[in-house]
Amino acid sequence: MRNMKMVEKEEEEEESCLQSIRYQRGSLHLLDQRKLPLNTIYLDIPDAAHAWEAIREMVVRGAPAIAIAAALSLAVQVSKPDHQFTGTPHEAASFLISKLDYLVSSRPTAVNLSDAATKLTDIVINSAATATDAHQVFQAYIEAAEIMLEEDVASNKAIGTYGSSFILNHRKDINKLSVLTHCNTGSLATAGYGTALGVIRALYADGVLERAYCTETRPFNQGSRLTAFELVHDKIPATLIADSAAAALMKAGRVHVVIVGADRVAANGDTANKIGTYSLALSAKHHGVLFFVAAPLTSIDLSLSSGEEIVIEERSAKELLNTRGGLGEQVAASGISVWNPAFDVTPANLIDGIITEKGVITKVGNEVFDIKGFVQKTMSN
Ligand code: MRU
Repeated sequence: MRNMKMVEKEEEEEESCLQSIRYQRGSLHLLDQRKLPLNTIYLDIPDAAHAWEAIREMVVRGAPAIAIAAALSLAVQVSKPDHQFTGTPHEAASFLISKLDYLVSSRPTAVNLSDAATKLTDIVINSAATATDAHQVFQAYIEAAEIMLEEDVASNKAIGTYGSSFILNHRKDINKLSVLTHCNTGSLATAGYGTALGVIRALYADGVLERAYCTETRPFNQGSRLTAFELVHDKIPATLIADSAAAALMKAGRVHVVIVGADRVAANGDTANKIGTYSLALSAKHHGVLFFVAAPLTSIDLSLSSGEEIVIEERSAKELLNTRGGLGEQVAASGISVWNPAFDVTPANLIDGIITEKGVITKVGNEVFDIKGFVQKTMSN
């Protein structure tokens, strides 16, 4: 991997260990999530090339965090004093757009990255139309990327609030709920607070969370390394389970709700999320457990009519053959072939609701989601 500068070792500050993205104008540092939970090390990301590699290698992961880190890396690159650019405003826009296209190629499944790139592309094209020099276009880009960072935390908190009250309304029969979640959708996967884990945080803050269960999330262990770390940090009562224990846990009646995040939600509600989500949804349906997706509107891709069209990233065999997501020692038999999709698609019929920052999308007449109608309505408000 590109020689990334390590800026801090063994960081001890309480709060900052849950901050995956540290940004101030001209400087971006990403928490190396491959080293968690044992080491807190931030890497210096001076440009788009370093961000591309950091995203591909899972230094930063989680759909919203990937999008924001990519956008900010380019903001840092063009705000450096040594970034000499002598072209016209239109050439500045073309430069930014080509870097955005390149960043989008780092990981294919999460739509947040391409959604951010499309929005930023529109902004730089509009800016180039009126700018008198390239600097103004770069400035417009930097400001827009910084707004994305600010908006993500606010949107996650709204997801938490909507999710908590909606779920409580649906399970008025019990005083305290136990929730199962998968992968990591918390502060580390976003600019802060989290989506599915944000709903768990909100339920806990509302005093109605009995216990959070988190899966290990093999093979990269985002659950045992990252979600468990966040839950322990926040002192939320929590239990780690093997992925294969989820059905037994539901059968034992110990889970009332499953809440997961999303990497891409198609127009019909089919949802791509971390591999294993589909099994959880099947199991939840079988056991009569509610199943919710929590995701910002930036995770919705109305251009895809169904989940069939979602491109699923396949990752290196080493993640299964070796420990520590491929970085550690070999544990599988040499010569075995491997299939390692990073995500799967849960069909909409297994999903009870999609919790967004604008409210919860439910099924019309309990049959299908009208996601397009919901999005249009929120935009006209
Ligand atoms: O491969 P990862 O760790 O990037 O996968 C992350 C997930 O699948 C998350 O559930 C999803 O991105 C939502 S994060 C708020």
